[in-house]
Amino acid sequence: MTTLRHTLVAATAALALGASLPITAALAQGQLPTAAASPAPARLEVPQSSRVEHDDIISYLNVVAQQQRRPSVAEAARKALEVMRPHFAREAEYVLPPLGLLPALAEGRATPEMRGAIAIADRVKAEQDRLYEEHVRITGVLNDLIAAAEGERERGLVAMARQAALHSLHEVEVLYPAVILIGDRLREKLGSSG
Ligand SMILES: [Fe+2]
Repeated sequence: MTTLRHTLVAATAALALGASLPITAALAQGQLPTAAASPAPARLEVPQSSRVEHDDIISYLNVVAQQQRRPSVAEAARKALEVMRPHFAREAEYVLPPLGLLPALAEGRATPEMRGAIAIADRVKAEQDRLYEEHVRITGVLNDLIAAAEGERERGLVAMARQAALHSLHEVEVLYPAVILIGDRLREKLGSSG
């Protein structure tokens, strides 16, 4: 597991940084939560920021795969989609939903309705090796896409693919551990039974 994670970090670190963050649909539509919202919502669902980010990446890759005139770039985008679409679907189903509970947990609230997050966190813990392997593959196909785009001087696509690779690394470095901590925290607060 450690080896895979280090491989992923090293592969992603090889990417040059500096691409600006894309403006997501959430920001553009003013859908960010407000500080006045209290108490924080507690929903066992993928946070909007992750959901929109995944949707943006898939939409962008779809456009490139279907409309890019350079065959090497279109093919690289198709391969990235093959790997990333099912991975994102798995994350939406059983990896990221506990993160929707974070705002409420940060306010010290834990209720029996949140208990479903414990099973999800346990599954993430059990499947970490597989999930890390998927992220290594994602980094690989994105590196291929970057190389193809650089070869055709497609600077916008290079920037987008770098951003997607950083998104992938962020999940491994921050979001997955956060999901596991949420499970541990809920077990502490709610107990193991019931
Ligand atoms: Fe992921």
